[in-house]
Parts: sequence; C-alpha cells; structure tokens
Amino acid sequence: MGRWGFFVTIEGIEGSGKSTLAKGLYELLKEKGFPVLLTCEPGGTGAGEKIREILLFSKEKLSPYTELFLFLASRKEHVEKKILPALREGKIVICDRFDDSTIAYQGFGRELPLRILKRINKIVTCGLKPSLTFLLDIDPEEGLRRIERRDRIEEEELEFHQRVREGFLSIAKRAKKRVIVIDAKKEKKEILKIAFEKLLQRLKEKRKYISLIKSL
Ligand SMILES: Nc1ncnc2c1ncn2[C@@H]1O[C@H](COP(=O)(O)OP(=O)(O)OP(=O)(O)O)[C@@H](O)[C@H]1O
Ligand SMILES: [Mg+2]
Repeated sequence: MGRWGFFVTIEGIEGSGKSTLAKGLYELLKEKGFPVLLTCEPGGTGAGEKIREILLFSKEKLSPYTELFLFLASRKEHVEKKILPALREGKIVICDRFDDSTIAYQGFGRELPLRILKRINKIVTCGLKPSLTFLLDIDPEEGLRRIERRDRIEEEELEFHQRVREGFLSIAKRAKKRVIVIDAKKEKKEILKIAFEKLLQRLKEKRKYISLIKSL
C-alpha cells in the first residue's frame, strides 16, 4: 500500500468557500511538486454529468429518496472511475463535497434516516473514507449572500440550510480527528494557509510524501 495516495474532502454549505479552498490547495500542492487530482461531484464522468442535469434542471420537485439515489449513482461513477484510480496511482485527491454532504443534506436537511444513509454511503464509496476533511463553517445567510442567492431564499429554505449546517457540525463532533472545522468568515488566504499546514502535518504523521515535504 506504499503508493496509495491521500484522500482529502472539502465540505460545507453553499457559498462557504469550498471550491475556492479546493482550487487553492490544488494549485499550492501542484506548485510544490505533489501528485494531485482536483475533483468535485459528479466528477466529469459521462453518466455522472447526465445525472447531475436531472438533479439541477428537473422541473418537477424530486422526492428526497429520488434525489438521494441520483446523487449516489453519480458518486458511484465518480469513485470507481476517478477517485480510486487516482489514489491507486499515489495521488493526493482533493474532492469538493463527498459522503458527509449526503448525511448533512439528505439526512439533516431532508430528514431521511441517518442509519440508512450511512449504510448506503458505505456501499457507494466501496468503504472509502476521506483521510482528512475540511469543514468550512459559516452562517447560511452569509454563505448565501456570497453566492448572491439570498434574495430567492425564503425563510423555510434558510431553515433547511441551518439544519444542513448543524448536520455538518454534528459530523465534525463525532469525527474530531478526521474533520477540521475552519471558520469560513476568515480571509481566503488565511483559510488556505490553515488548511495547507494541517494537510502537511497529517501527511507527515502518516509518513506520506516525506521526501517531498522535507524538500519544501
Ligand atoms: N473566505 C472568503 N471570504 C470572502 N469571500 C469568499 C471566501 N471564500 C470564498 N469567497 C467568495 O464566495 C463566493 C463563493 O465561494 P465558492 O464558490 O468557493 O463557495 P462554494 O462553497 O464552492 O459554493 P457552492 O456551494 O455554491 O459550490 C465566491 O465569490 C468566492 O470568491
Ligand atoms: Mg463550489
């Protein structure tokens, strides 16, 4: 397993800065010479993109279970076709959203039973868990304001996002070692610095990419 890479996920509600951090980490790692893959759900797989279209552009309201199964189908393709192959090649994989989003959105947000979600998540990910997760925590009003969707958000929807935020925080509480919570109100540069240092520290602990880290 010496060549097995390192799996990092970035989670948080809309507008928390996930894509900004994912891209920042990717560029920094690449610049320092690490083998790295940046990806986000649905990961650019053919079937995944088609599923995404249904999720984003479906005119009718989808049942929570339909939504769940579509997300999971897309994740299955992503895991098998992109994430696992990259990890096998020894890459650091940075993934913008992963299994915690299912628990937070479909579990806490849509209130589907967590027990079922956890079991089904395991099947879909082939048991793959992130080695490290950055949770960008922010008040939903602030996050939604950043992506300029605030005006369309009704009270009920805001409550939905509050539940999702609580869901993420509850996951973090139960997985203190894996999930690092970052206050997403901090400056982008500072968030990137915190995340990069934590990642290097974790890589060192796991004795991964040691010669590269020493040469920094
Ligand atoms: N720390 C920050 N402080 C202020 N603005 C930020 C910060 N991080 C990101 N932004 C800005 O907020 C907006 C949303 O950021 P980003 O797209 O990274 O969020 P996201 O979590 O990926 O959102 P989504 O859930 O919609 O994909 C962008 O305009 C980005 O430049
Ligand atoms: Mg994003």
